Amino acid sequence: MTVPLESIALKMTYKSKGKVNPAIKDFSFSVKNNSIFSILGRNGSGKTTFVKISTTQLRPDSGSIKIFGRDVVEEDQEVRKIISLVPQESRPFPFLTPWEHVYYFQKMHGNTREGSKERAQFVMDLLDMESFCDTECVNLSGGQKQLTMVAMAFSLDSQIYFLDEPTIGLDIITRKRVWEAIMGVKKKGKTIILTTHYLDEAAYLSDEICVVSRGKLAKQGTLDELRSSLKHDTRIIIRDSDSRDKLAKYGKVTHDNRGTVLYTDHDAVESILSDKSIRKDKLELGPVGLDDVFISLVGETIEVDEN
Ligand SMILES: Nc1ncnc2c1ncn2[C@@H]1O[C@H](COP(=O)(O)OP(=O)(O)OP(=O)(O)O)[C@@H](O)[C@H]1O
Ligand SMILES: [Mg+2]
Repeated sequence: MTVPLESIALKMTYKSKGKVNPAIKDFSFSVKNNSIFSILGRNGSGKTTFVKISTTQLRPDSGSIKIFGRDVVEEDQEVRKIISLVPQESRPFPFLTPWEHVYYFQKMHGNTREGSKERAQFVMDLLDMESFCDTECVNLSGGQKQLTMVAMAFSLDSQIYFLDEPTIGLDIITRKRVWEAIMGVKKKGKTIILTTHYLDEAAYLSDEICVVSRGKLAKQGTLDELRSSLKHDTRIIIRDSDSRDKLAKYGKVTHDNRGTVLYTDHDAVESILSDKSIRKDKLELGPVGLDDVFISLVGETIEVDEN
């Protein structure tokens, strides 16, 4: 079976007003059928550029992307028929309602009047948009506008869905609703390419995760594979500067936006907890997570001087 997406030695440089910006230097990976594949990376690492090339809005300088075996440049018309997209930072039309957005979007894709109405109602229910589905978008909140864009993408019966930060600005309950909708799409046998800065979202949804950095692939794997690629399996966030020095002998101490962090192994935890010189109420202990993987691959940590 052809894979849903294959990116081969992809390269793309923006050139404007004499400035050259190499957004993608080498993206090479493939996505498994009927999976949720997340692309994570810092701002400006090339995720949206990749989504734009995949969805035929931009052309690469070299390399290629194939969607179910179809080249996104050579067979762009064919590709457009089988994809669905939530673009990053898109905005709905101010004087149409969410329901009308989905209705007209369906009609544009050739659905009948009755079929379009049914589909619009279906996604309004799916995403719990009933209370504002007849309000002009100009009068909606930022999150409600974002949900309108998500609703349009989910109204299509596509083979592959590109969701570029789909849950940005949504409250936690609404985000979970969108997660369930994404899982529902997957259950129908579809493939989803997701970019997000919410690591809990990526950890919850993804079958596979690819971390990109400065236009290149840093690592790809399942959440467990990524976690086990770290040297240590346990993380302790330290809220007490006195304990910090005492903990250094148990592993690697770093400092990042979460504070001071000790990476150690679960074998050492017993010794740490029985060490009377350490205040236990100042420690936050747990297994390493996707945030640790992310920071180790693309973050800038500062080693704490142990002396
Ligand atoms: N239209 C453009 N013209 C010139 N440079 C651009 C353009 N769009 C993006 N870039 C640059 O290309 C690089 C990659 O941008 P891109 O939008 O793909 O990043 P991203 O990973 O999606 O970031 P974010 O997480 O902030 O959405 C950045 O350095 C950005 O400044
Ligand atoms: Mg982006």
